[in-house]
Amino acid sequence: MRILTGIQASGRPHLGNILGAIKPAIQLSKNPNNESFLFIADLHTLTSLKDGKQLRENTYAIAAAWLACGFDADKNFFYRQSKLAGYHTELMWYLNCFTPFPMLANAHSFKDKSEKLADVNAGLFTYPVLQAADIMLYDAHLVPVGKDQRQHLEMTRDLGGAFNRQYGEDTLILPEAKIDESVMTIPGIDGQKMSKSLNNYIDIFLNEKDLLKVVKKVVTDATPLEDPKNPDTDNVFKLYSLVANPDEIAEMRQNYLAGGYGYGHAKNALHTVLVREFAEEREKFDYYMNHIEELEEKLQAGEAKAEVIAKATMERVRNRMNL
Ligand code: TYM
Repeated sequence: MRILTGIQASGRPHLGNILGAIKPAIQLSKNPNNESFLFIADLHTLTSLKDGKQLRENTYAIAAAWLACGFDADKNFFYRQSKLAGYHTELMWYLNCFTPFPMLANAHSFKDKSEKLADVNAGLFTYPVLQAADIMLYDAHLVPVGKDQRQHLEMTRDLGGAFNRQYGEDTLILPEAKIDESVMTIPGIDGQKMSKSLNNYIDIFLNEKDLLKVVKKVVTDATPLEDPKNPDTDNVFKLYSLVANPDEIAEMRQNYLAGGYGYGHAKNALHTVLVREFAEEREKFDYYMNHIEELEEKLQAGEAKAEVIAKATMERVRNRMNL
């Protein structure tokens, strides 16, 4: 089975990306029956970030995160979307010509920003079409993503279906989304969905001191230290539950219910499990960020491999279209 997923380079990779997409994708990539296409969506990033230097730095950080989290790039496909831009944007154009205006007008990615239309660029408006091209260009079957991407996957299937009705049912493969129920939407430090644009994210690759500063900012209610607290509505507990082991989670629940246990204690415990559970990832991330030439080497090798697949798909597509 072909697995495919991408991460934008709009900032550093955060806990939401890691638990929502990176870890589930890498888990699937370990199955020897699967081939995995894990990439950096740097063209999508241009819809919001124009500074080339920043984009490049973020791109390396996302690449380092994929490798630090255990992706075997040599056995799979690892690439920057921009390095295969010709194929991605060509398929996007064909799909554009099958995309009804209202479909894009209803996309969350556009709607969220549509209050000030002058700020919406055409790239942002057609964002889902490029994503559909990213996926179908490599004949992907399964796309592990967070819940916020469900609509984009539905659009991908709709566009692929419309294209196939015109050019033949087996022209493009219609992918399935894989959304892990337990990590569907990771909350940020303010309790809203963790995201780069809301600046409420936890960057687990920060040094321990700076990571503690971020964890200390997690928003809680004002229940005094000595009083019992409700674990089910508290952000610190929610985040802790995503990372700690079951015994630790049960113990923290008890502490909340008993009282005499403050949010400060809980935040220190959250910081400790983050550093412990991601120890290996943190070390490897630093290694790759200090060895950019190794990252480049792996990306370039991956791009050469991915190009073979992209080229074959586009030859098939153009043939069907009689172009
Ligand atoms: P991006 O960079 O916004 O998000 C990357 C992945 O991380 C997941 N994610 C989350 N999961 C759970 N909780 C959160 N708080 C959270 N925040 C982010 C996202 O769901 C996503 O899976 N459009 C994609 C990039 C993309 C793509 C593709 C993905 C471009 N082409 C093709 C799959 C297939 C995106 O928004 O990335």
